[in-house]
Amino acid sequence: MTPARQVVRRILAGRAGQAQTGAAAYAPANIALVKYWGKRNEELNLPVTGSLSISLGPLGSHVELARAPEPADAIWLNGRRLAADSSFAQRAGAYLDLFRPEADFHFELKARNTVPTAAGFASSASGFASLAKALDGLFGWNLSLRELSILARLGSGSATRSLADGFVEWHAGTAADGMDSFAERLETDWPALRVGAVVLCAEEKPVGSRAGMKRSVETCEFYRAWPGRVAQDLADLKAAIARKDFPMLGTVAEGNALAMHALMAATRPPIVYALPETVAAMRTVWAARENGLPLWFTMDAGPNVKLLFEAKDETGVREFFPGVEVVAPFG
Ligand code: PMV
Repeated sequence: MTPARQVVRRILAGRAGQAQTGAAAYAPANIALVKYWGKRNEELNLPVTGSLSISLGPLGSHVELARAPEPADAIWLNGRRLAADSSFAQRAGAYLDLFRPEADFHFELKARNTVPTAAGFASSASGFASLAKALDGLFGWNLSLRELSILARLGSGSATRSLADGFVEWHAGTAADGMDSFAERLETDWPALRVGAVVLCAEEKPVGSRAGMKRSVETCEFYRAWPGRVAQDLADLKAAIARKDFPMLGTVAEGNALAMHALMAATRPPIVYALPETVAAMRTVWAARENGLPLWFTMDAGPNVKLLFEAKDETGVREFFPGVEVVAPFG
């Protein structure tokens, strides 16, 4: 039995459950302010370090799940039935394999994303988190958020952080089976916080995060400095959130994102996601800040930039970034 299947067996032990005819679930996307880059276990998506994200509220994934009447999975995305050999259907099917009660049990899965993937927000986090929740609803297991977060992690690392709203911290854990590697919500809300998506390129990235982080762990000589940097950034970010110190939050998030991109660049072969437009956007943020606008940015494994600011500065931010798509994470 695979390690992932063993984790599922362990979590579901003693949960008889009551199978329902169908279930629906929603999970928000999230964007990390202190990033996850590097695994200590590839199959279980166990991270080298902790990370801390902000959920994107209404931007996420809705999933409907039922037993399929036909002898194969039927997988739909945004209203279209997908070919069985499409990458989305393959990935979802491999995840569903972990949960089939019998080999001939097939699922009908309908996923709908409200997270605009073209804006450079990842939908895999909300996708696997909503799927874990829908499985829980379909089989009537009644799992805790902590257990759901562990199951979502088996689909994608960042999905661990998509079970809750607000600020969410993923504890790296040390256990070999990952039972202590789960995420939970911080208590503080910050209604004035805003995230702005600046779309610079909607094309698929050249190196995916799974392959990219593996390459960094294996070849980047600076990787050994990363866990210490993350520990410091996590402590500073949590202090900034507790004090609602926005410049401190921005400074930590931007610095952590740039440190991750420096790691990527020092990987062999190098991984550079930034385009000339990305660098121009970063310079615009710095120039705006020099002019007194409290504006910072973060970036994931792609060329698009996410702005961090407070509601009172939205008009000012729009002067520099007229096309920005603004999200209010706390509604
Ligand atoms: O969980 P994945 O494979 O989508 O990797 C996420 C990696 C980053 O988005 C770059 C960082 C993060 O913490 O979300």
